[in-house]
Amino acid sequence: MPNEVKAFKPKIVAFCCNWCSYAGADLAGTNRLTYPADVKIIRVPCSCRVNPMFILRAFQRGADGVILCGCHPGDCHYTSGNYYARRRMTLLFSMLDYLGIEKERTRVEWVSAAEGAKFAATMNDFVATVTALGENKRLEDLRCKE
Ligand code: FES
Repeated sequence: MPNEVKAFKPKIVAFCCNWCSYAGADLAGTNRLTYPADVKIIRVPCSCRVNPMFILRAFQRGADGVILCGCHPGDCHYTSGNYYARRRMTLLFSMLDYLGIEKERTRVEWVSAAEGAKFAATMNDFVATVTALGENKRLEDLRCKE
């Protein structure tokens, strides 16, 4: 049997705030808009709930890309959570850059509950970008390998 080269399918972790982005993902599903199944959504109460360690841990556990989605600035259910998240992620992304992780592997997007189409388009674009980058081996923890 000839050796078949499997097409690379990236592992994407998407942290979505409960009040906007998760509802946006739900709307995308309701409207039957498609985005790759490689995107694993983790629902969080607010984008500021995402500790930078969660993102490092995701990379360590084999994620190829991590995206954080929250309410638009000014629309956060908890008033200013997304401003904190944005600041935190800016610092984290510069640290990831220092570690040699391409900045395209991480992204912050604001998606409202009414933007199902934007959610699907964002995920399609992000998956395409990470697929082009290939597998992430920079922070991989070999103990997490199967
Ligand atoms: Fe959505 Fe805070 S509740 S970002």
